[in-house]
Amino acid sequence: MCGIVGYIGNAPEEHLLHGLEVLEYRGYDSAGIAVIHHGKMSIYKEIGRVANLKGKVIETEEFGAGIAHTRWATHGKVSLQNAHPQLSQNKDIAVVHNGIIENYNLLKEQLLKNGVKFDGDTDSEVIAKLFKDNLSIQTLKEVIDRLEGSYATLVVSKNENRIYFARNKLPLYLTKTSQSIILASDPMCFINQSKDYYDIGDGEYGYADLNSIKIYKNDQCVRKKKNKISFNIKTLANKEFNHYMLKEIYQSKDALINILENYKKKKIIKILNHIASIDTDKIYLIGCGTAYHAGLIGKTYLKKYLKKEVECVLASEFIYQNNIITNKTLCIFISQSGETADTILALKHSQKFGAKTVCITNVTYSSLATLADFTLPIYAGVERAVASTKAYFAQCIILYILARKMAGRRYLANIKKFLHEIDFSDDSLIQKLATMIYSKREIFFIGKSVDFITCEEASLKLKEISYINSQAFACGELKHGTLALIDNKKLIIVIATQSQLLNKVLSSASEIKSRGGQLVLFTPLSLTPQIKKIFKVIIPIKQAEEDFMPLQTILPLQKLAYFTAVKKGNDPDMPRNLAKSVTVE
Ligand code: M6R
Repeated sequence: MCGIVGYIGNAPEEHLLHGLEVLEYRGYDSAGIAVIHHGKMSIYKEIGRVANLKGKVIETEEFGAGIAHTRWATHGKVSLQNAHPQLSQNKDIAVVHNGIIENYNLLKEQLLKNGVKFDGDTDSEVIAKLFKDNLSIQTLKEVIDRLEGSYATLVVSKNENRIYFARNKLPLYLTKTSQSIILASDPMCFINQSKDYYDIGDGEYGYADLNSIKIYKNDQCVRKKKNKISFNIKTLANKEFNHYMLKEIYQSKDALINILENYKKKKIIKILNHIASIDTDKIYLIGCGTAYHAGLIGKTYLKKYLKKEVECVLASEFIYQNNIITNKTLCIFISQSGETADTILALKHSQKFGAKTVCITNVTYSSLATLADFTLPIYAGVERAVASTKAYFAQCIILYILARKMAGRRYLANIKKFLHEIDFSDDSLIQKLATMIYSKREIFFIGKSVDFITCEEASLKLKEISYINSQAFACGELKHGTLALIDNKKLIIVIATQSQLLNKVLSSASEIKSRGGQLVLFTPLSLTPQIKKIFKVIIPIKQAEEDFMPLQTILPLQKLAYFTAVKKGNDPDMPRNLAKSVTVE
Protein backbone atom coordinates (compact mmCIF):
# COMPACT_ATOMS: atom_id res chain seq x y z
CA MET A 1 0.00 0.00 0.00
CA CYS A 2 1.30 3.56 0.48
CA GLY A 3 1.39 6.06 -2.35
CA ILE A 4 4.55 7.66 -3.68
CA VAL A 5 4.97 10.66 -5.94
CA GLY A 6 7.96 12.54 -7.33
CA TYR A 7 8.08 15.88 -9.13
CA ILE A 8 10.66 18.05 -10.86
CA GLY A 9 9.58 21.50 -12.08
CA ASN A 10 8.19 24.76 -10.78
CA ALA A 11 6.18 24.87 -7.56
CA PRO A 12 7.12 21.31 -6.51
CA GLU A 13 5.36 21.52 -3.12
CA GLU A 14 1.97 22.24 -4.71
CA HIS A 15 2.36 19.40 -7.22
CA LEU A 16 3.55 16.92 -4.62
CA LEU A 17 0.67 17.76 -2.29
CA HIS A 18 -1.79 17.38 -5.17
CA GLY A 19 -0.25 13.98 -5.97
CA LEU A 20 -0.59 12.91 -2.35
CA GLU A 21 -4.26 13.90 -2.33
CA VAL A 22 -4.89 11.73 -5.38
CA LEU A 23 -2.95 8.83 -3.79
CA GLU A 24 -4.43 9.13 -0.31
CA TYR A 25 -6.70 6.15 -1.01
CA ARG A 26 -3.54 4.02 -0.70
CA GLY A 27 -3.02 4.88 2.97
CA TYR A 28 -3.50 7.77 5.36
CA ASP A 29 -1.53 6.97 8.51
CA SER A 30 1.01 9.73 7.82
CA ALA A 31 2.26 11.86 4.95
CA GLY A 32 5.58 13.48 4.15
CA ILE A 33 7.56 15.42 1.57
CA ALA A 34 11.25 16.07 0.79
CA VAL A 35 11.89 19.07 -1.48
CA ILE A 36 15.19 20.31 -2.88
CA HIS A 37 15.77 23.92 -3.84
CA HIS A 38 19.29 25.19 -4.67
CA GLY A 39 21.07 22.24 -3.03
CA LYS A 40 19.08 22.46 0.20
CA MET A 41 16.63 19.74 1.24
CA SER A 42 13.53 20.52 3.33
CA ILE A 43 11.58 17.71 4.98
CA TYR A 44 7.96 17.94 6.13
CA LYS A 45 6.09 15.11 7.87
CA GLU A 46 2.75 14.84 9.63
CA ILE A 47 0.70 12.07 11.21
CA GLY A 48 -2.67 11.35 9.62
CA ARG A 49 -4.20 12.87 6.53
CA VAL A 50 -2.53 14.85 3.76
CA ALA A 51 -4.67 17.81 4.87
CA ASN A 52 -2.62 17.89 8.11
CA LEU A 53 0.60 18.08 6.12
CA LYS A 54 -0.77 20.70 3.75
CA GLY A 55 -1.01 23.27 6.51
CA LYS A 56 2.67 22.77 7.41
CA VAL A 57 4.41 22.85 4.02
CA ILE A 58 5.91 26.17 2.88
CA GLU A 59 4.90 26.34 -0.76
CA THR A 60 7.13 28.07 -3.33
CA GLU A 61 6.73 28.93 -7.00
CA GLU A 62 10.41 28.19 -7.54
CA PHE A 63 11.91 25.36 -9.55
CA GLY A 64 12.84 22.31 -7.51
CA ALA A 65 12.70 18.53 -7.19
CA GLY A 66 10.94 16.48 -4.55
CA ILE A 67 9.43 13.20 -3.47
CA ALA A 68 6.40 12.52 -1.29
CA HIS A 69 4.66 9.64 0.46
CA THR A 70 1.33 8.78 2.02
CA ARG A 71 1.66 5.83 4.39
CA TRP A 72 -0.28 2.73 5.35
CA ALA A 73 1.79 1.36 8.21
CA THR A 74 3.13 -2.18 7.81
CA HIS A 75 6.33 -2.15 9.92
CA GLY A 76 6.58 0.24 12.81
CA LYS A 77 3.84 2.22 14.52
CA VAL A 78 2.30 5.37 13.15
CA SER A 79 4.81 8.05 14.18
CA LEU A 80 6.79 10.91 12.72
CA GLN A 81 9.98 8.84 12.84
CA ASN A 82 8.34 6.12 10.78
CA ALA A 83 6.73 8.53 8.33
CA HIS A 84 8.52 8.88 4.99
CA PRO A 85 10.72 10.28 3.52
CA GLN A 86 13.42 8.29 5.26
CA LEU A 87 16.94 9.71 5.24
CA SER A 88 20.42 8.33 4.67
CA GLN A 89 22.94 8.45 7.49
CA ASN A 90 24.35 11.84 6.39
CA LYS A 91 20.80 13.12 5.69
CA ASP A 92 21.68 14.13 2.10
CA ILE A 93 19.61 11.39 0.47
CA ALA A 94 15.85 10.92 0.93
CA VAL A 95 13.81 7.83 0.08
CA VAL A 96 10.09 7.09 -0.21
CA HIS A 97 8.99 3.48 -0.51
CA ASN A 98 5.83 1.52 -1.17
CA GLY A 99 6.05 -2.20 -0.41
CA ILE A 100 7.71 -4.52 2.07
CA ILE A 101 11.44 -5.25 2.32
CA GLU A 102 11.32 -8.84 3.52
CA ASN A 103 15.01 -9.14 4.45
CA TYR A 104 15.10 -5.82 6.30
CA ASN A 105 15.98 -7.41 9.65
CA LEU A 106 19.11 -8.99 8.24
CA LEU A 107 20.13 -5.80 6.42
CA LYS A 108 19.46 -3.72 9.51
CA GLU A 109 21.64 -5.97 11.66
CA GLN A 110 24.50 -5.63 9.18
CA LEU A 111 24.12 -1.83 9.07
CA LEU A 112 23.90 -1.58 12.87
CA LYS A 113 27.13 -3.61 13.14
CA ASN A 114 28.76 -1.03 10.87
CA GLY A 115 27.72 1.74 13.21
CA VAL A 116 24.73 3.05 11.22
CA LYS A 117 22.08 4.62 13.46
CA PHE A 118 18.36 4.19 12.79
CA ASP A 119 15.69 6.78 13.59
CA GLY A 120 12.60 4.54 13.40
CA ASP A 121 11.39 0.95 12.99
CA THR A 122 10.36 0.70 9.36
CA ASP A 123 11.65 -1.71 6.78
CA SER A 124 11.85 1.26 4.39
CA GLU A 125 14.48 3.04 6.46
CA VAL A 126 16.89 0.25 5.54
CA ILE A 127 16.79 1.39 1.90
CA ALA A 128 17.75 4.93 2.89
CA LYS A 129 20.50 3.77 5.22
CA LEU A 130 21.99 1.47 2.57
CA PHE A 131 22.97 4.60 0.61
CA LYS A 132 26.28 5.86 1.95
CA ASP A 133 27.04 9.36 0.80
CA ASN A 134 26.50 9.32 -2.90
CA LEU A 135 23.54 8.70 -5.13
CA SER A 136 24.12 7.49 -8.68
CA ILE A 137 22.68 4.83 -10.95
CA GLN A 138 25.44 2.46 -9.72
CA THR A 139 24.71 3.01 -6.03
CA LEU A 140 20.97 2.65 -6.68
CA LYS A 141 21.61 -0.67 -8.43
CA GLU A 142 23.88 -1.83 -5.58
CA VAL A 143 21.15 -1.02 -3.07
CA ILE A 144 18.26 -2.65 -4.89
CA ASP A 145 20.37 -5.75 -5.55
CA ARG A 146 20.41 -6.27 -1.78
CA LEU A 147 16.64 -5.92 -1.35
CA GLU A 148 14.22 -8.84 -1.17
CA GLY A 149 10.51 -8.19 -1.26
CA SER A 150 8.35 -5.69 -3.05
CA TYR A 151 9.09 -2.08 -3.75
CA ALA A 152 8.34 0.99 -5.75
CA THR A 153 10.82 3.53 -4.51
CA LEU A 154 11.94 7.07 -5.31
CA VAL A 155 15.26 8.52 -4.19
CA VAL A 156 16.62 12.08 -4.29
CA SER A 157 19.88 13.65 -3.22
CA LYS A 158 20.18 17.29 -2.25
CA ASN A 159 22.98 17.65 -4.80
CA GLU A 160 20.91 17.30 -7.97
CA ASN A 161 17.48 17.95 -9.43
CA ARG A 162 17.04 14.36 -10.46
CA ILE A 163 14.81 11.54 -9.19
CA TYR A 164 16.08 7.96 -9.08
CA PHE A 165 13.52 5.18 -9.10
CA ALA A 166 13.17 1.39 -8.95
CA ARG A 167 10.28 -1.02 -9.05
CA ASN A 168 9.70 -4.63 -8.11
CA LYS A 169 6.13 -6.01 -8.01
CA LEU A 170 4.44 -2.70 -7.17
CA PRO A 171 3.20 -0.08 -9.60
CA LEU A 172 5.22 2.94 -10.65
CA TYR A 173 4.51 5.30 -13.54
CA LEU A 174 6.44 8.19 -15.06
CA THR A 175 5.52 11.08 -17.31
CA LYS A 176 7.36 14.03 -18.84
CA THR A 177 5.81 17.31 -19.87
CA SER A 178 7.64 20.24 -21.47
CA GLN A 179 8.39 21.65 -18.01
CA SER A 180 8.18 18.82 -15.57
CA ILE A 181 8.79 15.21 -14.63
CA ILE A 182 6.24 13.34 -12.51
CA LEU A 183 6.50 9.84 -11.04
CA ALA A 184 3.63 8.24 -9.15
CA SER A 185 2.05 5.02 -7.90
CA ASP A 186 -1.02 5.74 -10.02
CA PRO A 187 -1.20 7.53 -13.39
CA MET A 188 -4.32 9.29 -12.07
CA CYS A 189 -1.75 11.81 -10.77
CA PHE A 190 -0.92 12.75 -14.39
CA ILE A 191 -4.43 13.79 -15.39
CA ASN A 192 -4.57 17.39 -16.66
CA GLN A 193 -0.75 17.43 -16.74
CA SER A 194 0.08 15.00 -19.50
CA LYS A 195 -1.48 12.89 -22.25
CA ASP A 196 0.74 9.83 -21.90
CA TYR A 197 3.03 8.01 -19.51
CA TYR A 198 5.50 5.15 -19.09
CA ASP A 199 4.66 2.10 -17.02
CA ILE A 200 7.89 1.17 -15.18
CA GLY A 201 8.18 -2.62 -15.28
CA ASP A 202 9.21 -5.15 -12.64
CA GLY A 203 12.98 -5.16 -12.16
CA GLU A 204 13.38 -1.78 -13.87
CA TYR A 205 15.24 1.13 -12.35
CA GLY A 206 16.67 4.41 -13.57
CA TYR A 207 16.55 8.16 -13.18
CA ALA A 208 14.72 11.13 -14.65
CA ASP A 209 15.48 14.82 -14.87
CA LEU A 210 14.35 17.53 -17.24
CA ASN A 211 17.05 16.60 -19.78
CA SER A 212 16.80 12.84 -19.85
CA ILE A 213 14.99 9.76 -18.72
CA LYS A 214 17.03 6.57 -18.40
CA ILE A 215 15.43 3.22 -17.62
CA TYR A 216 17.49 0.04 -17.08
CA LYS A 217 16.90 -3.63 -16.43
CA ASN A 218 19.80 -6.00 -15.59
CA ASP A 219 22.30 -3.24 -16.49
CA GLN A 220 20.82 -2.84 -19.98
CA CYS A 221 19.08 0.33 -21.18
CA VAL A 222 15.37 -0.29 -21.80
CA ARG A 223 13.33 1.46 -24.49
CA LYS A 224 9.69 1.79 -23.52
CA LYS A 225 6.47 2.58 -25.29
CA LYS A 226 4.20 5.27 -23.90
CA ASN A 227 0.65 4.53 -22.76
CA LYS A 228 -2.13 7.00 -23.53
CA ILE A 229 -4.13 8.46 -20.67
CA SER A 230 -7.61 7.30 -21.56
CA PHE A 231 -9.26 7.65 -18.14
CA ASN A 232 -10.63 10.71 -16.40
CA ILE A 233 -10.94 12.03 -12.92
CA LYS A 234 -14.49 13.37 -13.28
CA THR A 235 -15.85 11.50 -10.32
CA LEU A 236 -13.16 12.70 -7.93
CA ALA A 237 -15.04 15.84 -6.96
CA ASN A 238 -17.67 15.34 -4.31
CA LYS A 239 -19.96 18.32 -4.16
CA GLU A 240 -23.50 17.08 -3.54
CA PHE A 241 -22.80 14.54 -0.79
CA ASN A 242 -21.07 14.77 2.57
CA HIS A 243 -19.05 11.67 1.83
CA TYR A 244 -17.88 9.76 -1.22
CA MET A 245 -19.39 6.55 0.14
CA LEU A 246 -22.97 7.78 -0.02
CA LYS A 247 -22.39 9.30 -3.44
CA GLU A 248 -20.90 6.05 -4.67
CA ILE A 249 -23.83 3.98 -3.41
CA TYR A 250 -26.09 6.12 -5.61
CA GLN A 251 -23.62 5.84 -8.49
CA SER A 252 -24.40 2.10 -8.69
CA LYS A 253 -27.15 3.14 -11.05
CA ASP A 254 -24.70 5.11 -13.22
CA ALA A 255 -22.46 2.05 -13.32
CA LEU A 256 -25.37 0.03 -14.62
CA ILE A 257 -26.06 2.63 -17.33
CA ASN A 258 -22.37 2.58 -18.33
CA ILE A 259 -22.38 -1.21 -18.44
CA LEU A 260 -25.48 -1.25 -20.64
CA GLU A 261 -23.83 1.21 -23.01
CA ASN A 262 -20.45 -0.52 -23.19
CA TYR A 263 -21.46 -4.17 -23.09
CA LYS A 264 -23.19 -3.87 -26.42
CA LYS A 265 -20.02 -2.57 -28.11
CA LYS A 266 -18.17 -4.86 -30.53
CA LYS A 267 -14.92 -4.64 -28.57
CA ILE A 268 -16.47 -6.05 -25.40
CA ILE A 269 -18.64 -8.58 -27.19
CA LYS A 270 -15.50 -9.92 -28.86
CA ILE A 271 -13.88 -10.44 -25.46
CA LEU A 272 -17.02 -12.13 -24.11
CA ASN A 273 -17.14 -14.41 -27.17
CA HIS A 274 -13.50 -15.37 -26.66
CA ILE A 275 -14.14 -16.26 -23.02
CA ALA A 276 -17.31 -18.16 -23.88
CA SER A 277 -15.38 -20.22 -26.44
CA ILE A 278 -12.79 -21.43 -23.92
CA ASP A 279 -13.03 -25.17 -23.38
CA THR A 280 -13.19 -25.38 -19.61
CA ASP A 281 -14.07 -28.07 -17.10
CA LYS A 282 -13.61 -26.05 -13.92
CA ILE A 283 -14.08 -22.40 -13.03
CA TYR A 284 -12.55 -20.58 -10.08
CA LEU A 285 -13.71 -17.16 -8.94
CA ILE A 286 -11.04 -15.41 -6.91
CA GLY A 287 -11.00 -12.14 -4.98
CA CYS A 288 -10.60 -10.52 -1.56
CA GLY A 289 -13.13 -8.92 0.78
CA THR A 290 -16.04 -7.44 -1.11
CA ALA A 291 -14.67 -8.67 -4.43
CA TYR A 292 -14.75 -12.21 -2.98
CA HIS A 293 -18.40 -11.70 -2.03
CA ALA A 294 -19.10 -10.61 -5.62
CA GLY A 295 -17.44 -13.88 -6.61
CA LEU A 296 -19.86 -15.80 -4.38
CA ILE A 297 -22.77 -14.11 -6.14
CA GLY A 298 -21.10 -14.87 -9.49
CA LYS A 299 -20.83 -18.51 -8.50
CA THR A 300 -24.60 -18.71 -8.07
CA TYR A 301 -25.06 -17.28 -11.61
CA LEU A 302 -22.47 -19.57 -13.20
CA LYS A 303 -23.84 -22.68 -11.53
CA LYS A 304 -27.41 -21.78 -12.41
CA TYR A 305 -26.80 -21.01 -16.09
CA LEU A 306 -23.70 -23.02 -16.95
CA LYS A 307 -24.16 -26.07 -14.75
CA LYS A 308 -20.40 -26.49 -14.39
CA GLU A 309 -18.03 -27.02 -11.46
CA VAL A 310 -17.50 -23.57 -9.96
CA GLU A 311 -15.55 -22.68 -6.84
CA CYS A 312 -15.10 -19.29 -5.24
CA VAL A 313 -11.86 -18.89 -3.29
CA LEU A 314 -10.30 -16.11 -1.23
CA ALA A 315 -7.29 -14.86 -3.17
CA SER A 316 -5.14 -14.93 -0.05
CA GLU A 317 -5.84 -18.67 0.33
CA PHE A 318 -5.82 -19.72 -3.31
CA ILE A 319 -2.16 -20.60 -3.69
CA TYR A 320 -2.06 -22.59 -0.45
CA GLN A 321 -4.97 -24.92 -1.18
CA ASN A 322 -3.60 -27.48 -3.64
CA ASN A 323 -6.31 -26.40 -6.05
CA ILE A 324 -6.49 -28.49 -9.20
CA ILE A 325 -5.51 -26.18 -12.03
CA THR A 326 -4.93 -27.35 -15.60
CA ASN A 327 -5.06 -25.79 -19.05
CA LYS A 328 -8.80 -26.48 -18.98
CA THR A 329 -9.29 -24.32 -15.89
CA LEU A 330 -10.78 -20.87 -16.17
CA CYS A 331 -9.80 -18.50 -13.36
CA ILE A 332 -11.84 -15.33 -12.99
CA PHE A 333 -10.17 -12.69 -10.82
CA ILE A 334 -12.32 -9.93 -9.36
CA SER A 335 -10.71 -6.73 -8.12
CA GLN A 336 -11.92 -3.15 -8.08
CA SER A 337 -8.39 -1.73 -8.01
CA GLY A 338 -6.65 -4.46 -9.98
CA GLU A 339 -3.70 -3.93 -7.62
CA THR A 340 -4.58 -6.28 -4.75
CA ALA A 341 -1.36 -8.20 -4.07
CA ASP A 342 -3.07 -11.46 -3.05
CA THR A 343 -5.21 -11.47 -6.19
CA ILE A 344 -2.22 -10.75 -8.43
CA LEU A 345 -0.25 -13.58 -6.80
CA ALA A 346 -3.18 -15.96 -7.28
CA LEU A 347 -3.35 -14.97 -10.96
CA LYS A 348 0.37 -15.56 -11.52
CA HIS A 349 0.05 -18.92 -9.72
CA SER A 350 -2.86 -20.06 -11.92
CA GLN A 351 -1.00 -19.01 -15.07
CA LYS A 352 1.93 -21.25 -14.10
CA PHE A 353 -0.44 -24.25 -14.46
CA GLY A 354 -1.76 -23.07 -17.82
CA ALA A 355 -5.14 -21.74 -16.64
CA LYS A 356 -6.95 -19.18 -18.79
CA THR A 357 -7.40 -15.98 -16.84
CA VAL A 358 -10.09 -13.32 -16.88
CA CYS A 359 -10.00 -10.21 -14.76
CA ILE A 360 -13.07 -8.20 -13.78
CA THR A 361 -11.82 -4.79 -12.72
CA ASN A 362 -12.56 -1.09 -12.50
CA VAL A 363 -9.01 -0.10 -13.48
CA THR A 364 -8.16 -1.27 -16.98
CA TYR A 365 -4.52 -0.13 -16.77
CA SER A 366 -3.96 -1.99 -13.48
CA SER A 367 -1.39 -4.76 -12.92
CA LEU A 368 -4.12 -7.42 -12.86
CA ALA A 369 -5.57 -6.23 -16.16
CA THR A 370 -2.10 -6.20 -17.71
CA LEU A 371 -1.42 -9.77 -16.60
CA ALA A 372 -4.78 -11.42 -17.35
CA ASP A 373 -5.60 -13.02 -20.72
CA PHE A 374 -8.90 -11.12 -20.85
CA THR A 375 -10.17 -8.04 -19.05
CA LEU A 376 -13.82 -7.22 -18.45
CA PRO A 377 -14.16 -3.62 -17.25
CA ILE A 378 -16.89 -2.83 -14.74
CA TYR A 379 -17.31 0.83 -15.74
CA ALA A 380 -18.10 1.96 -12.19
CA GLY A 381 -16.01 5.14 -12.39
CA VAL A 382 -13.39 6.01 -9.76
CA GLU A 383 -14.33 4.57 -6.36
CA ARG A 384 -12.81 6.69 -3.60
CA ALA A 385 -14.41 5.48 -0.38
CA VAL A 386 -12.49 2.59 1.15
CA ALA A 387 -15.75 0.66 1.55
CA SER A 388 -16.54 -0.77 -1.84
CA THR A 389 -20.14 -0.17 -2.93
CA LYS A 390 -20.76 0.65 -6.58
CA ALA A 391 -17.85 -1.60 -7.60
CA TYR A 392 -19.53 -4.57 -5.85
CA PHE A 393 -22.76 -3.79 -7.65
CA ALA A 394 -21.02 -3.55 -11.02
CA GLN A 395 -18.86 -6.66 -10.44
CA CYS A 396 -22.00 -8.73 -9.78
CA ILE A 397 -23.62 -7.40 -12.95
CA ILE A 398 -20.55 -8.30 -15.04
CA LEU A 399 -20.58 -11.80 -13.53
CA TYR A 400 -24.25 -12.08 -14.45
CA ILE A 401 -23.41 -11.02 -18.03
CA LEU A 402 -20.53 -13.48 -18.19
CA ALA A 403 -22.63 -16.39 -16.89
CA ARG A 404 -25.46 -15.64 -19.31
CA LYS A 405 -23.06 -15.17 -22.22
CA MET A 406 -21.20 -18.40 -21.46
CA ALA A 407 -24.54 -20.19 -21.38
CA GLY A 408 -25.49 -18.65 -24.75
CA ARG A 409 -28.25 -16.49 -23.28
CA ARG A 410 -29.11 -12.83 -23.70
CA TYR A 411 -28.54 -10.44 -20.86
CA LEU A 412 -29.10 -6.81 -21.88
CA ALA A 413 -32.90 -6.76 -21.73
CA ASN A 414 -32.98 -8.15 -18.18
CA ILE A 415 -30.41 -5.61 -17.01
CA LYS A 416 -32.33 -2.80 -18.70
CA LYS A 417 -35.47 -3.87 -16.86
CA PHE A 418 -33.57 -3.92 -13.57
CA LEU A 419 -32.31 -0.40 -14.24
CA HIS A 420 -35.91 0.82 -13.84
CA GLU A 421 -36.46 -1.24 -10.72
CA ILE A 422 -33.39 -0.12 -8.76
CA ASP A 423 -34.51 1.35 -5.48
CA PHE A 424 -32.29 2.96 -2.86
CA SER A 425 -34.89 2.69 -0.06
CA ASP A 426 -36.16 5.36 2.23
CA ASP A 427 -33.26 7.16 3.97
CA SER A 428 -35.31 8.12 7.01
CA LEU A 429 -36.17 4.47 7.80
CA ILE A 430 -32.53 3.45 7.49
CA GLN A 431 -31.37 6.41 9.56
CA LYS A 432 -33.81 5.37 12.31
CA LEU A 433 -32.37 1.88 12.25
CA ALA A 434 -28.84 3.33 12.38
CA THR A 435 -29.85 5.23 15.51
CA MET A 436 -31.06 1.97 16.98
CA ILE A 437 -27.84 0.03 16.30
CA TYR A 438 -25.00 2.55 16.51
CA SER A 439 -24.36 2.01 20.24
CA LYS A 440 -24.43 -1.79 20.00
CA ARG A 441 -21.20 -3.70 20.49
CA GLU A 442 -22.27 -6.53 18.26
CA ILE A 443 -24.72 -7.13 15.40
CA PHE A 444 -25.56 -10.40 13.67
CA PHE A 445 -26.88 -10.91 10.16
CA ILE A 446 -28.72 -14.08 9.18
CA GLY A 447 -29.99 -15.29 5.82
CA LYS A 448 -30.33 -18.37 3.69
CA SER A 449 -28.84 -19.28 0.30
CA VAL A 450 -28.02 -16.16 -1.72
CA ASP A 451 -29.28 -13.95 1.14
CA PHE A 452 -26.52 -15.40 3.30
CA ILE A 453 -23.99 -13.97 0.82
CA THR A 454 -25.70 -10.58 1.14
CA CYS A 455 -25.44 -10.98 4.93
CA GLU A 456 -21.69 -11.52 4.62
CA GLU A 457 -21.24 -8.42 2.50
CA ALA A 458 -23.53 -6.29 4.71
CA SER A 459 -21.65 -7.47 7.79
CA LEU A 460 -18.26 -6.63 6.27
CA LYS A 461 -19.50 -3.17 5.32
CA LEU A 462 -20.86 -2.49 8.78
CA LYS A 463 -17.75 -3.57 10.70
CA GLU A 464 -15.42 -1.86 8.24
CA ILE A 465 -16.75 1.64 8.81
CA SER A 466 -18.74 1.54 12.07
CA TYR A 467 -16.20 -0.60 13.99
CA ILE A 468 -19.12 -2.58 15.46
CA ASN A 469 -18.30 -6.26 15.62
CA SER A 470 -20.67 -7.93 13.20
CA GLN A 471 -20.99 -11.45 11.93
CA ALA A 472 -23.03 -13.20 9.28
CA PHE A 473 -24.57 -16.62 9.78
CA ALA A 474 -26.49 -19.00 7.58
CA CYS A 475 -29.90 -19.50 9.24
CA GLY A 476 -29.51 -23.25 9.40
CA GLU A 477 -26.22 -22.96 11.28
CA LEU A 478 -27.64 -21.10 14.30
CA LYS A 479 -28.54 -24.25 16.20
CA HIS A 480 -25.06 -25.65 15.62
CA GLY A 481 -23.43 -23.22 18.02
CA THR A 482 -24.25 -19.59 17.30
CA LEU A 483 -27.55 -19.61 19.17
CA ALA A 484 -25.48 -19.68 22.37
CA LEU A 485 -24.59 -16.03 21.68
CA ILE A 486 -28.19 -14.84 21.72
CA ASP A 487 -29.56 -12.92 24.70
CA ASN A 488 -31.88 -9.95 25.11
CA LYS A 489 -29.10 -7.48 24.24
CA LYS A 490 -28.46 -8.90 20.79
CA LEU A 491 -29.80 -7.38 17.60
CA ILE A 492 -30.10 -9.62 14.58
CA ILE A 493 -30.71 -8.41 11.06
CA VAL A 494 -32.59 -10.95 8.98
CA ILE A 495 -32.48 -10.87 5.19
CA ALA A 496 -35.28 -12.75 3.43
CA THR A 497 -35.81 -12.17 -0.27
CA GLN A 498 -36.81 -15.66 -1.44
CA SER A 499 -40.45 -16.57 -0.88
CA GLN A 500 -39.73 -20.32 -1.15
CA LEU A 501 -37.35 -20.05 1.81
CA LEU A 502 -39.39 -17.67 3.96
CA ASN A 503 -40.78 -20.29 6.31
CA LYS A 504 -37.35 -21.68 7.06
CA VAL A 505 -35.95 -18.18 7.71
CA LEU A 506 -38.92 -17.42 9.97
CA SER A 507 -38.22 -20.56 11.99
CA SER A 508 -34.69 -19.30 12.67
CA ALA A 509 -36.05 -15.85 13.53
CA SER A 510 -38.50 -17.40 16.00
CA GLU A 511 -35.73 -19.40 17.64
CA ILE A 512 -33.86 -16.15 18.20
CA LYS A 513 -36.96 -14.31 19.42
CA SER A 514 -37.66 -17.07 21.97
CA ARG A 515 -34.23 -16.38 23.45
CA GLY A 516 -34.79 -12.63 23.74
CA GLY A 517 -32.99 -11.41 20.62
CA GLN A 518 -34.34 -8.31 18.84
CA LEU A 519 -35.04 -8.82 15.16
CA VAL A 520 -34.95 -6.49 12.16
CA LEU A 521 -36.07 -7.70 8.75
CA PHE A 522 -35.09 -6.58 5.24
CA THR A 523 -37.53 -8.08 2.74
CA PRO A 524 -39.48 -7.51 -0.47
CA LEU A 525 -42.08 -10.11 0.59
CA SER A 526 -45.56 -9.31 1.87
CA LEU A 527 -46.14 -10.69 5.36
CA THR A 528 -49.14 -11.48 7.53
CA PRO A 529 -49.68 -9.31 10.66
CA GLN A 530 -48.73 -12.35 12.75
CA ILE A 531 -45.35 -12.64 11.06
CA LYS A 532 -44.77 -8.91 11.24
CA LYS A 533 -45.07 -9.10 15.02
CA ILE A 534 -41.83 -11.13 15.23
CA PHE A 535 -39.82 -8.13 14.06
CA LYS A 536 -39.06 -4.85 15.77
CA VAL A 537 -38.40 -3.10 12.46
CA ILE A 538 -39.16 -4.13 8.89
CA ILE A 539 -37.34 -2.42 6.02
CA PRO A 540 -39.22 -3.03 2.77
CA ILE A 541 -37.16 -3.74 -0.35
CA LYS A 542 -38.54 -3.32 -3.84
CA GLN A 543 -38.95 -6.61 -5.69
CA ALA A 544 -36.79 -7.21 -8.76
CA GLU A 545 -36.02 -10.29 -10.83
CA GLU A 546 -34.53 -13.05 -8.63
CA ASP A 547 -30.99 -12.73 -10.10
CA PHE A 548 -30.82 -9.07 -9.15
CA MET A 549 -32.26 -9.31 -5.64
CA PRO A 550 -28.80 -9.50 -3.97
CA LEU A 551 -28.01 -6.17 -5.62
CA GLN A 552 -31.32 -4.55 -4.75
CA THR A 553 -30.90 -5.72 -1.15
CA ILE A 554 -27.32 -4.60 -0.62
CA LEU A 555 -28.15 -0.94 -1.38
CA PRO A 556 -30.09 -0.21 1.86
CA LEU A 557 -27.61 -2.33 3.81
CA GLN A 558 -24.68 -0.28 2.47
CA LYS A 559 -26.60 2.80 3.54
CA LEU A 560 -27.18 1.30 6.98
CA ALA A 561 -23.42 0.88 7.41
CA TYR A 562 -22.90 4.45 6.18
CA PHE A 563 -25.48 6.10 8.46
CA THR A 564 -24.28 4.05 11.44
CA ALA A 565 -20.67 5.15 10.88
CA VAL A 566 -21.74 8.80 10.54
CA LYS A 567 -23.88 8.54 13.68
CA LYS A 568 -20.81 7.23 15.53
CA GLY A 569 -18.76 10.18 14.29
CA ASN A 570 -16.50 8.00 12.11
CA ASP A 571 -15.22 9.03 8.71
CA PRO A 572 -16.92 6.45 6.47
CA ASP A 573 -14.63 7.25 3.55
CA MET A 574 -11.39 6.57 5.37
CA PRO A 575 -11.97 4.02 8.14
CA ARG A 576 -9.18 3.49 10.64
CA ASN A 577 -6.37 1.04 9.88
CA LEU A 578 -7.47 0.47 6.29
CA ALA A 579 -6.60 1.64 2.78
CA LYS A 580 -8.40 1.44 -0.52
CA SER A 581 -5.76 -0.46 -2.40
CA VAL A 582 -4.17 -3.43 -0.63
CA THR A 583 -0.87 -3.89 -2.42
CA VAL A 584 0.87 -6.03 0.21
CA GLU A 585 0.31 -9.74 0.85
O1 M6R B 1 -9.43 -3.63 -5.08
P1 M6R B 1 -10.02 -4.96 -4.69
O2 M6R B 1 -11.41 -5.13 -5.16
O3 M6R B 1 -9.15 -6.11 -5.08
O4 M6R B 1 -10.07 -4.94 -3.11
C1 M6R B 1 -10.44 -6.07 -2.40
C2 M6R B 1 -10.77 -5.76 -0.98
O5 M6R B 1 -9.66 -5.21 -0.33
C3 M6R B 1 -11.93 -4.77 -0.85
O6 M6R B 1 -13.06 -5.23 -1.51
C4 M6R B 1 -12.26 -4.52 0.62
O7 M6R B 1 -12.76 -5.68 1.20
C5 M6R B 1 -13.25 -3.36 0.73
N1 M6R B 1 -12.65 -2.29 1.47
C6 M6R B 1 -14.54 -3.73 1.40
O8 M6R B 1 -15.43 -2.67 1.40
